[in-house]
This record gives sequence, C-alpha cells and structure tokens, in this order.
Amino acid sequence: MKSFMIQGAKILATGSAVPNSSLSNNQISNIVNTSDEWIFTRTGIKERRVLTGINQSVVDLGILASMDALKKISMDPSEIDLIILATSSPNDLFGSASQIQCKIGATNAVAFDLTAACSGFVLGIVTASQFLQNGSYRNILVIGADVLSKWIDWSDRSTCILFGDAAGAAIVQRCSNQNNSILNFQLNTDGKYSEHLSIAYKNYTSPHSKLNLYQGYFNYVAMNGKEVYKFAVSQVPLSILKCLSSLDMSVNDVDWLLLHQANERILKAVADKLSINKSKIIANLSKYGNTSAASIPLALDEAVQDDKILDSQIVVIAGFGAGLTWGTVVIRW
Ligand code: COA
Repeated sequence: MKSFMIQGAKILATGSAVPNSSLSNNQISNIVNTSDEWIFTRTGIKERRVLTGINQSVVDLGILASMDALKKISMDPSEIDLIILATSSPNDLFGSASQIQCKIGATNAVAFDLTAACSGFVLGIVTASQFLQNGSYRNILVIGADVLSKWIDWSDRSTCILFGDAAGAAIVQRCSNQNNSILNFQLNTDGKYSEHLSIAYKNYTSPHSKLNLYQGYFNYVAMNGKEVYKFAVSQVPLSILKCLSSLDMSVNDVDWLLLHQANERILKAVADKLSINKSKIIANLSKYGNTSAASIPLALDEAVQDDKILDSQIVVIAGFGAGLTWGTVVIRW
C-alpha cells in the first residue's frame, strides 16, 4: 500500500507507568502448579506488575503514562486535540478515555477508546497518523493501557503466568511532509480465529423472570496458547515484509525490531524468520510480562530513555493478538 500523505506525523515524546506491586514467577508457583524455570524457559518472563488497591484502574495508569510523556516536552495538556486510549480492560464499558481527558486537564481534547487487544497501540498510532496527516488535528495523545490482572483466572496456570499491568503513551504531532516519521503501516484482522484468545461475554443460563431477555457477564481470559503462538510466528513476519516492501525497504534497513512483548520465543522466532539480528530486538518482557496494549509503548519508552534509538533510525513496530488482529508500523525516528 502506498501512502498519499498531505502532511506528516511525528512522535514527539513517550511516557509510561507500571504499578508498584510486582509478582514473581516464584510467587505464582505458590498459587498454581508451576515453577520459575517452566515459565522463564517457555516465555522469558521473570516477573510482572499487578495493579492492587480497590479503587485503582486502567485510568490511573493511563494518567501517569500521559503525564510522563507531557512532562518530557513541557507540553500543556490543553494543547492536546485528541486522546486515543487503546485498552481491552476499561473501567467503564462506555469508555475510559474521557476520564483520562478530564483528570489530566486536556480540556480541548476529544477522547475515545479503541479496542484491539494487544494490537491496540499499533492501531492507535495508525489512527492518530490519519487525523494528523489529513490535517484534522495537531497534537494527539495515544495511550496503550491494560490491567488484564483483573480478567485473569488466577487458578489457570496456562494464562495467569503471562500477563501484567501497565500503560504507555506517545504524543504524536503533525509536521511537514518532509519530516514525516510514521512512514507506512500494514494492518490485518481474521475473525475466524477469535476464539483462540478472548474475554467472552457469557449469558446467565435463564432469562429475566418477566422478559425473555438474557443478561450476563464477562468471562476470564481464555486462550489456546499453541494456536496463538503459531499465528504470531507465521503472520507477523509477513506483515513486516509487506510493510517494508511498500516503502521499497528491506530487512537490512531495520535498526530496531519492536514487537508486542508476548513471549521471548515469539520475538526470537520472528527475528529469525526475517534474518534480523537478535541484537536489534527491543525486549523488556522479563520484567513486565505481556501487558497487552501497553507493551509496545512501555518498551518504546524504556528504549528511548536508555538512548538506544538514535535519530533517523528505522524502527519496525508490530503488534498482534486477540481478534485476531495484527499489524506493522514503520517509523523513522
Ligand atoms: N506451568 C507448568 N506447566 C504448564 C504450565 C505452567 N504454567 N502451563 C501449561 N503447562 C503444561 C501443560 O499442562 C502441558 O502439560 P502436558 O504435556 O502434561 O499436557 C505442558 O505444560 C505443555 O503445555 P503447552 O500448552 O503445550 O505449552 P507450550 O509449550 O505451548 O507453552 C505457552 C505454553 C502459553 C507458554 C505458549 O503456548 C505460548 O507462549 N503461546 C503464546 C501465548 C501468547 O503469547 N498469548 C498472548 C498473545 S497476545
């Protein structure tokens, strides 16, 4: 796909936030029949952060990550025109973005939620870039935040070892076409396999006593780990190659590979398939686990803070997860 941009879009700043409370593999092995060795060798995860406290939600983490990003460039929240909150664990099904808008004082911003599980941040950045490149808005705050610890069955060892809570944010600004840094994207969805990873709505077994109307509740995270693994390792490299080739680029042009932090084996297998050197992989999942929509901005913020990513370097970002959804964005930093 060629992009026909009128204007450009550029990531000005990143920010992130994680809860204080950490949960190690050893602590999980006191809850379910597992071990640090099993979890680490199969996933690369050592520990994760979980949001404790009765009134804490995805909004609190989203606020901290947003304020962190705004502070780095001394931007007043009133300069933000749009807030996109990518999350699958809102604290209000009508949306949580407006609560963040109010609490950070982004009085001029429109705000909405975007649900695309672990691909949410990639879809958020792509959505933001459309509003910027067509000239609708100037400053957009994209937040990826999830608190899947609230939706995990803590007696299910096949899922409770994987996930953690976090938020990451990026401020994206309109710029001239020559300075555009969000070079292109490639997005996909295949709903045929949605049951491989879901937090499904379940009906109660009997309807309302007077109305023939079923109500229900949301279940815990359900996952077919093997199928999700195979999907990620087969589809993500294809998406990256398509996106690079749409820009007349090759894997040799890639300086950094930033994949959704699901599993270290997936990260390495994707890099292997693309013949990208492992030293180019950005990874921090050993400390945080899979933080869903937060994982990419959290790792990006850490890499930026560590001065890993240099000006003009090519960063390939790819997300994948429930839906199933997956996609790539190529960025010139
Ligand atoms: N501790 C110890 N044993 C466990 C375990 C755990 N936490 N979870 C599963 N097992 C057991 C299984 O019961 C099975 O035992 P059995 O052989 O006696 O039946 C054995 O380990 C192998 O299970 P399996 O599910 O085949 O393991 P796996 O090698 O596929 O690894 C995952 C499991 C979840 C780590 C792996 O499938 C994976 O990472 N998939 C991708 C998941 C993902 O990234 N999801 C999010 C995408 S956004």
